[in-house]
Amino acid sequence: MTLKTFGFLRLHVLLFLCSSSLLSMAQKAAAPTAQLNIDTGNIVSPVSPMLYGLMTEEINHSYDGGLYAELVRNPTMRNFWSGVEGWELVRNGNADAEMMQDKETGPSTALTTSLKLVIKSASAIDEVGVSNSGYWGIPVHARTTYKGSFYAKAGDANLGPLTVRLISDDTNAVLAQVVIPAITTSWSKHEYSLTTGEVAASSKNHLQITAAHAGVLWLQLVSLFPPTYNNRPEGLRVDLMERMAAMHPHFLRLPGGNYLEGDTLADWYDWKKTIGPRVDRPGHQAPWTYWSTDGMGFLEFLEWCEDLHVEPVLAVYAGYALKGQHVEPGHDLEPYVQAAVDEVEYVTGDTSTKWGAERAKDGHPAPFPLHYIEIGNEDWFDKSHTYDARFAQIAEALRKHYPQYKLIATAPVKETKAAAQPDLIDDHYYKSPAAMFDLVHQYDNAPRTGPKVFVGEWATRSGSPTPNFGDALGDAAWMTSMERNGDLIEIASYAPLLTNVNPGAMQWPTDLIGYDALKSYGSPSYYAQCLFAAHIGDGTPHSTISGAGARFFYSATVSSSDHVLHLKLVNASNVDQPIAVSLADFAAGKHVAQINTLHAASFEATNSITSPEAILPVASSPAFKDSEFHEVVGKFTIQVIDIPLK
Ligand code: AHR
Repeated sequence: MTLKTFGFLRLHVLLFLCSSSLLSMAQKAAAPTAQLNIDTGNIVSPVSPMLYGLMTEEINHSYDGGLYAELVRNPTMRNFWSGVEGWELVRNGNADAEMMQDKETGPSTALTTSLKLVIKSASAIDEVGVSNSGYWGIPVHARTTYKGSFYAKAGDANLGPLTVRLISDDTNAVLAQVVIPAITTSWSKHEYSLTTGEVAASSKNHLQITAAHAGVLWLQLVSLFPPTYNNRPEGLRVDLMERMAAMHPHFLRLPGGNYLEGDTLADWYDWKKTIGPRVDRPGHQAPWTYWSTDGMGFLEFLEWCEDLHVEPVLAVYAGYALKGQHVEPGHDLEPYVQAAVDEVEYVTGDTSTKWGAERAKDGHPAPFPLHYIEIGNEDWFDKSHTYDARFAQIAEALRKHYPQYKLIATAPVKETKAAAQPDLIDDHYYKSPAAMFDLVHQYDNAPRTGPKVFVGEWATRSGSPTPNFGDALGDAAWMTSMERNGDLIEIASYAPLLTNVNPGAMQWPTDLIGYDALKSYGSPSYYAQCLFAAHIGDGTPHSTISGAGARFFYSATVSSSDHVLHLKLVNASNVDQPIAVSLADFAAGKHVAQINTLHAASFEATNSITSPEAILPVASSPAFKDSEFHEVVGKFTIQVIDIPLK
């Protein structure tokens, strides 16, 4: 060993010794003990019973290719620069055929085009047809029945039957098949079902429709659904609905977001075009770059609410488009005002009303509950400064017909007329973790005299596609502040809620729940939100804290019905935080608490589609005997503690 090498080694040993002793110092490092005093008998303000809800829109393939369980991509055969997206021509052996979009024929006035297949030669061995690859695959499970339908028309009666198959991409094995008897020469709907046997769960499959004779075939609205949540026909994906239900939401803000507005005035969310039979829905261009089929239409949104036992926070269009166009208040805005009034009637009217009757015709005679109506979205972007007048016009019309509902403005309103005053203002926050920690006192000293607050969109954003643990800490810190201000913040919803994680599917990171065709996962932030919403009281007791680090956050709420203190402790720092908690109004005796702890080793740690459960809450049930207890909240840790007080 040369002297030089020895010197190098010695340096490394030294560095190792230094770093390991630094490491053990860091491991042992803890902040000084903080003192938290909670007077659980002294409730100083109420907490809104509606605080936590969901926000939704068509973004990141949230509906088409997401929650809406339709498995066929581009079921309405729209043509893109590369052809009819999602569809491929199948020509087996020596068969000969061509496929194109036909702009001259379709099954309805809403769907006036179709996919045309010109089959020059085909036989039982050499079939011709089309295949669909789904939204990044078609998920197939064992012993499952898939229900489908399509509209078809044949050039003449000799085309013969069609065969529909689910086929494995990898092995070409037929996983399920069904024969559809002869197709007629006028447009008609055909329903079918496909049942799998003992197959391995996989999304590497495609749907195929083939013919065995020469002729011409037109297809439109080809559809296939797996079993859905609550078995709704053409309904929603089970795993995603179950994840949302576990968030204990109280409302669903719908239909957006930017999705309400559209890029241009022509693209507004014209809800009347999204109801009724699917074949009568034309679809529309959504602002997040892709076409919305509107299979997930307005009634499907409302049934989504019903299935989650929540009520809609209904956003009505207010005449502003994302690229800056606006509708002049006054005469020009009137059709949109009427659309908003009609929309509320569709949601809440009984069957004697025009739109209540329409809802009954669409399959849902019972009205839906409603308390909140939002007018527009993010109108602070509107440089024409017409929101005050647009809000006033829509608010006055809504209040005339429905004085019982609370109206939400998306920006402060300067109008002075009483009927034009909002009940709530919708504030949006998208922040980095550090900026979210800095935001936590935003509402502490805000006036309690004006409109209440709807935090209609909020998220800590650094992870992609879904929040990492640093984001979860930012979100948890923010939730402690919303709970503390639960007398002012009446409702709040994280955004965006959903993302398909396949390459090219997402337009906006960071999103709460990720999925591909087959499976889904909750981000660390998702679990933090589940815990916060499931453990919350209806009043905030008086509390004080001293000696805590700058990145330590807490919220205390008490449930008056069962006398439980819900304590949330968030340590976003990189050192442990010891804390002494002193509870006034704590009955002596053994109290079994429930603690849920969410922890990760770093800000960057996360869950993903391939590692969906890397970070999960861990539950424990320690007993407390005294009104004072000591707890060490580890670094990068979120704790939700329920303590029975009596
Ligand atoms: O949540 C993503 C987008 O952010 C919403 O569509 C919009 O309202 C906001 O700007």
